[in-house]
Amino acid sequence: MEKTALFPQVKGILHGGDYNPEQWLDRPDILEEDIRLMKKAGINSATLGVFSWSVYEPVEGEFHFDWLQEIMDRLYENGIYTILATPSGARPAWLDAAYPEAMRVSAHNVRDHHGNRHNHCMSSPIYRKKTAVIDRKLAERFGSHPGLIMWHISNELGGECFCPLCAERFREYLADKFDHDIEKLNQAWWTTFWSHRYNSFDQIEPPFEHGERSIMGLNLEWKRFTSWNMNDFMRSEIDVLKEITPDIPVTANFMELFYGLNYRNLAKDLDVISWDSYPRFHNDYETFQDTMLWNAFQHALMRSLKPEKPFMLMESTPSLVNWHPFNKLKRPGVHKLACIQALACGSDTVQYFQWRKGRGSFEQFHGAVVDHNGSEDTRVFREVAEVGQALCRLSPVAGSLVRARAALLFDWDNRWAIHDAGALSNQTKKYEDTCMKIWQEFRRLGVEMDVVASDGVLDRYDVVVAPMLYMLQPGTASALRSFVEKGGQLLATYFTGYVDENQLCYLGGFPGNGLSELFGIVSEEIDTLYPSDRNGIRFEKGISGKIRTKEGVPEDTAVWEVKDYAEILRVKDAKVLGVYTGDFYQGTAAVTCKEYPVSREQTPSKCGRAYYVAARVGAGQMRPLFEKLLEDAGIRTRKLPENVDYCCRTGEEGVYEFYLNYGTAPVEVPDVHGTDLLTGEKVEDILGLGAYGVAVLQTAASPRHLE
Ligand code: GLA
Ligand code: ZN
Repeated sequence: MEKTALFPQVKGILHGGDYNPEQWLDRPDILEEDIRLMKKAGINSATLGVFSWSVYEPVEGEFHFDWLQEIMDRLYENGIYTILATPSGARPAWLDAAYPEAMRVSAHNVRDHHGNRHNHCMSSPIYRKKTAVIDRKLAERFGSHPGLIMWHISNELGGECFCPLCAERFREYLADKFDHDIEKLNQAWWTTFWSHRYNSFDQIEPPFEHGERSIMGLNLEWKRFTSWNMNDFMRSEIDVLKEITPDIPVTANFMELFYGLNYRNLAKDLDVISWDSYPRFHNDYETFQDTMLWNAFQHALMRSLKPEKPFMLMESTPSLVNWHPFNKLKRPGVHKLACIQALACGSDTVQYFQWRKGRGSFEQFHGAVVDHNGSEDTRVFREVAEVGQALCRLSPVAGSLVRARAALLFDWDNRWAIHDAGALSNQTKKYEDTCMKIWQEFRRLGVEMDVVASDGVLDRYDVVVAPMLYMLQPGTASALRSFVEKGGQLLATYFTGYVDENQLCYLGGFPGNGLSELFGIVSEEIDTLYPSDRNGIRFEKGISGKIRTKEGVPEDTAVWEVKDYAEILRVKDAKVLGVYTGDFYQGTAAVTCKEYPVSREQTPSKCGRAYYVAARVGAGQMRPLFEKLLEDAGIRTRKLPENVDYCCRTGEEGVYEFYLNYGTAPVEVPDVHGTDLLTGEKVEDILGLGAYGVAVLQTAASPRHLE
């Protein structure tokens, strides 16, 4: 197996976080104390310099790096490695005063004033130049420092700019994309509608709030451009660093389900994926388990951006944040639970924002390992130190990987297109939520699922679920077809295959581009229901096509509740499994399946299947259908006690099975075998987990979900 450890210098799991010594340069006593406390908490890494530009370069062209040298040296002498950020996440005042073009322009065509952060014009040549200068200086000065293990590009990249430079760059991007042929653009964007035809690329403007917003192709291309431009900016930073330090890996800290950037594209320019996780623990609108599974979905999305490597939990709070609607404390034990969950999902790091609370400004009350009282005798510090010890014991896990045989398709372009589509109801489109709920249901069955692109290679999977794949990428239909023809179990839903990559509707029946043949149906109409409307789907012969009985009771003939969306199908050559129970389309097909037997010589009993679920049904209700797909694919599910989550990583030295209790009641999990790395105890059959308890079993056997 290929070596997948992220950092050759670091043995085991990285434990650290954002450290801002530049805020404390007048307090050498505190900087000294930081080292002592870090060692006490089992910290082995610090992320430095995220917002240090005005200290590095207080006046244009005058650089001060000695303080950083001292800090990095001292950390290194004490066994603490440095992740060094480029400081482009926030600009010094002198830069904006001298070069106002670096400040962003909003969709209302108003230029920002100096201040805040993450608000640069990504097209501005002078901003790129100034960033390149400081990045080069940092790389030259610290590139060979033995403590440096990684570059952290900027901070939480995101946002859009409508300035003249960006507008011009957008036009160039479009001209390039449409071969400098405005007629191609007019056709792709259907601009004859409302007489919006363009004569030349010069006439195109970004979609200002008070400007052109009625062309779906334009709106979508603006999203793609913004993401591309940010990617291009990020790459410009990476290029400078790679020229000087080709062997130091680069990352950029991503955000939860971030809407504005196609992370899948950005990922290609990064060596390692990292993200910042801030779940709303203990909220009043979902169960704690739901919150944890929300977080698990985010982890899986990030992990799947580079499934061949572990990812990094770059930021998380040791206690609370200061920007949730309600900044509630994590209850005792939850810190450890969330940290181990990150590992369970494939992270090789646990890192925090922030090491020490600052005295002033916007984040003065944001949680930190060290509070204003400066003491190690706090609940939060003790819990962090406990995590430090646990991570030491979990060193063997580092470098192992999560291997999934099921995948959920999730595309950024599709997301943007659905959001913008003048169809359905804006109150209930809920693309992301629909995807996540399905993913969570698989997870509740103990089945790991990657989150991947619709036009990617699906060969490594046996089950693929494609919720609401409204927009098809050029390669999507062929990827799905080949997946099913090779024996894969595919499930698609209502609102699939309506538009192409330019948001032009397919002609000749949805789902388009050949998918109607693949599923054996045509979707003729889609009914958007009011929130209180309900319909149902009845399975006359059971969900698996035959009535299964348990003690003589028909089990599998349930009625699914339908809400929000119901498509009316014309069935061509698929089997009808379920029909609508109500409304004027009562009795017509709602769930279908078309089978693709794989040639006998190849794999005797294999049969690909293309399922279509034409209406919105809760993921929990669809569970028996998911079980059928998994069973047909030979993927084992697990009956887990309520609130227990199960994940698995495979490494060179064994298999690591994670059990996490998302409840406060003690639970017993049967059929568990191995040695718990956290306690050293052997478990044979029954594993007991206390409130928010965790266990990590090392076993030599092959992972259950690969059986
Ligand atoms: C983000 C940022 C950090 C900090 C935290 C606070 O993740 O990257 O700089 O502001 O939020 O939660
Ligand atoms: Zn701009």
